[in-house]
Amino acid sequence: FVDASLRPRFLKDYIGQDKVKQQIKLFIEASKRKGELLDHVLISGPPGLGKTTLAQIIANELGKNIIFTSGPVLEKKGDLAGILSSLEEGDILFIDEIHRLNSSIEEALYPAIEEFRLDIIIGKGSSSRTVSISLPKFTLIGATTRAGMLTSPLLSRFGIVLNMDYYDEDSLKQIIKRSAVIMGIEISDDAAYEIAKRSRGTPRNANRLLKRVHDYAVIHSNGIVDRDTAVNALTFLGIDEDGLDEKDRSYLDVLVNRFGCRPVGLSTISSALSESRNTVEELIEPYLLRKGYIQKTHKGRIPTEKAIKKFEK
Ligand code: ADE
Repeated sequence: FVDASLRPRFLKDYIGQDKVKQQIKLFIEASKRKGELLDHVLISGPPGLGKTTLAQIIANELGKNIIFTSGPVLEKKGDLAGILSSLEEGDILFIDEIHRLNSSIEEALYPAIEEFRLDIIIGKGSSSRTVSISLPKFTLIGATTRAGMLTSPLLSRFGIVLNMDYYDEDSLKQIIKRSAVIMGIEISDDAAYEIAKRSRGTPRNANRLLKRVHDYAVIHSNGIVDRDTAVNALTFLGIDEDGLDEKDRSYLDVLVNRFGCRPVGLSTISSALSESRNTVEELIEPYLLRKGYIQKTHKGRIPTEKAIKKFEK
């Protein structure tokens, strides 16, 4: 099954994130009644929450085209110019990881989103001149894992800011049940809840675990996922009752046993785990912080009592 089929296409099918849903629903409706384009939208929140899905839904609700790109993909000003000049009136431009735009592209974006104008420099040196091309009106939707990573001039140009947060267990359970229906998987309520509890607050993990638990059930219980099967499958997958996986446990083992609970810096941890700093900081640590296993101090990361109790050898 392609993941795309699990993604809700309209707001009515979108589970959880109630505050964000109410806000965007109102702004979409208001823009329709005013007959104006939706203001530029920033969606912020941790990875795996469905920021891209939400952008696609906004486009579907408005009945507009959406063009997808991302901060790291836009390397040269020409890349941005190419995309902007191919837009049509009313289109939505989605820029994922917008905090990773390089500064020259970010600056070129300002007049584009403020006045729908692109300034390009023709020629070099003393004979160069700037020409302005006018662009069709469009809506920019930017996504970022942390709104705090945006420069303030960029941040201030978004009229709508949607802050997404981790899903609660009940929403994840509903998402799992919805996905199971789409994929034709038979699953009980309490089994869906067991998976939800270990999904680290994100639909991305919930849907991945559902597929792997289903695989386990295909082999061990005729494909039917009940609570026992789910719990056994999750144990088999190496995911504990708190949702910690192998990586999380190595992380905490490094802090508690290798470094004896002294503060450890991000680079040291990344190399000890052979993971990029980005993976450690964005995918591993947020969950450990949230579950109260680690603390960040100015000297580095330290394990909490809870982590020491569970991992000290
Ligand atoms: N699949 C992934 N995320 C979802 C969500 N928020 N609601 C419904 N189905 C989903």
